[in-house]
Amino acid sequence: MTQVQSGILLEHCRFAIFMEAMVQGEFADLRQGCKQFCQTLSELQQQFPDAKLGAVVAFGYDVWHDLSNGQGASELKPFTPLGKGLAPATQRDLLIHIQSLRHDVNFSLAQAALAAFGNTIKVEEETHGFRWVEERDLSGFIDGTENPQGEQRAEVAVIGEDDAQDAGGSYVFVQRYEHNLRQWSRFSTEQQEQIIGRTKQDSEELPPEARPNTSHVSRVDLKEDGKGLKILRQSLPYGTASGKHGLFFIAYCARLHNIEQQLLSMFGETDGKHDAMLRFTRAVSGSYYFAPSLTRLLAL
Ligand code: HEM
Ligand code: MG
Repeated sequence: MTQVQSGILLEHCRFAIFMEAMVQGEFADLRQGCKQFCQTLSELQQQFPDAKLGAVVAFGYDVWHDLSNGQGASELKPFTPLGKGLAPATQRDLLIHIQSLRHDVNFSLAQAALAAFGNTIKVEEETHGFRWVEERDLSGFIDGTENPQGEQRAEVAVIGEDDAQDAGGSYVFVQRYEHNLRQWSRFSTEQQEQIIGRTKQDSEELPPEARPNTSHVSRVDLKEDGKGLKILRQSLPYGTASGKHGLFFIAYCARLHNIEQQLLSMFGETDGKHDAMLRFTRAVSGSYYFAPSLTRLLAL
């Protein structure tokens, strides 16, 4: 059995650190950095079992292509802008996603990552996410209600054992959103519920006939040949109260296709309609990555 990276399937984490970097050094150093990072991760996991610490190292197309000698992850590609730039592309080479119940432990692992990779990487974006009240997004809506639960999480997010090359791996998409909460507060609760497609207090889904087809749920709850296109979301709110804040969106999936179809639908690339959420939030980054299994990461 291949081992899945420990940060993918965790539930109810309270804090996360997202680092995106360009690779500027030698591949030998990058491989060594991955090994050293995994070593420190497992030491911290043993030292702080209460933290339920997990992490993921994932690669953008260019670096993965070279690291793997072009083997596997056949769906991986660089993220390109959608919706005439409404979804900008800021594709980087390396993603480090750390999550746990403890920000202090996460921070120690982030420092260890910088030490492990040294000059081989240049971090271009670092965001610290936190779980807000009742697992709500800063819009006040519960985020994650329809996320896969239990065994379904791995079925959705992780490539199965029948794919000998990529088993235990996962496609990742990250996209940072900045909310305009002043604008959001001008909508009544009922208008907000129409925008999201669920009720605000209890996260009850509005029936399809009771929500516009531009509501967020209508845009992303997609079916193909009668089967739901599922993804596993691990997004968290981030930012400061007085400054920039929003949602750091991150999704894992065994198929890049599922994530891409949802994005095309949100950003007007399928039927010309945009997700109504874009009336109060905007995407400011976007990248696709591939997270190999831990087994493969250590063998690169
Ligand atoms: C559902 C918020 C971006 C995919 C939801 C829900 C909320 C929400 C409140 C309903 C509760 C739930 O099921 O979790 C947001 C916010 C976003 C954002 C605030 C950015 C500012 C995205 C993006 C995607 C996405 C970029 C896909 C690429 C989904 C999916 C569901 C969902 C698949 C579940 C739909 C269902 O099966 O009913 N989101 N979301 N979301 N969102 Fe988002
Ligand atoms: Mg649904």
